[in-house]
Amino acid sequence: MTGASSGIGRAFAERLARDGHGLVLVARRGEVLDELGGRLRAEHGVPTETLVADLSIEDDMRRVGRRLTAEPFVDLLVNNAGSGTYGALSDLDPEGEADEVRLLVLATVRLSQAALPGMLARQRGAIVNVASTAAFRPGPFHATYCAAKAFVASFTEALYEEVRGTEVAVLLVCPGATRTEFFERAGVDTSRLPTVAWSTPEQVVDGALRALQRRRAVCIPSLGNRADLWVRRWLPRALVRRLAGIVGRRSFR
Ligand SMILES: NC(=O)c1ccc[n+]([C@@H]2O[C@H](COP(=O)([O-])OP(=O)(O)OC[C@H]3O[C@@H](n4cnc5c(N)ncnc54)[C@H](OP(=O)(O)O)[C@@H]3O)[C@@H](O)[C@H]2O)c1
Repeated sequence: MTGASSGIGRAFAERLARDGHGLVLVARRGEVLDELGGRLRAEHGVPTETLVADLSIEDDMRRVGRRLTAEPFVDLLVNNAGSGTYGALSDLDPEGEADEVRLLVLATVRLSQAALPGMLARQRGAIVNVASTAAFRPGPFHATYCAAKAFVASFTEALYEEVRGTEVAVLLVCPGATRTEFFERAGVDTSRLPTVAWSTPEQVVDGALRALQRRRAVCIPSLGNRADLWVRRWLPRALVRRLAGIVGRRSFR
């Protein structure tokens, strides 16, 4: 479970522990992971491990990748860790953008690739990759984030087909706005987003685990987001892009 120290990842960890699964908790904030792991062990009697790693750093990706090939084997990999930068690309720190690509894109590829051979050999296991509804549109003023999530979506759907006919499952999860630390960390003011637009991390996790059980390829947990994406599918791409530009300029510039 990457990104287990808060938000959606933490909700995944809580739910999986409640369902009796042992956990390998990965994120940068070791103390938070230790506290979470200790509590889940005490409350649910499941084994927990903490792996402190910055998944925008290649050595850390490899270290987490090695854990995926070691015993006790990880049967469910959730590539969830993520953060986003907002603003005009010309104003943003180039290193921050590169970190974002490494975290969202490269870590997802490396950890999926580390986990898959063992899962296929054992004919058991699942990979859940958390993208976003942002995967389905260009994102002016958060261009890198949306493009990285589009990569995760395409990559995960491709893997879904690659493992067809095996006992290994692959799922793409695309949450919309979810109440976590995400926007606060990105310094984005979300006060104008109406209450109905928000999901809780627990709703995202419920939807994802239900979809995984049904062997779905894609899970868009919120009904509102599913309707929104359905409508967008029928609109000309140029119009979707233009509207995204107007919203992005107002919200994130
Ligand atoms: N919240 C939303 O509205 C929303 C919508 C769509 C998709 N998503 C996606 O959902 C996923 C989870 O985000 P969230 O909403 O739960 O946000 P969050 O509360 O900020 O959690 C992000 C998690 O990722 C970890 N993380 C961030 N950078 C990392 C790095 N370099 N290395 C390792 N771990 C790192 C953080 O832990 P540390 O800081 O301890 O490392 C934290 O556990 C992300 O992929 C995000 O893009 C979120």
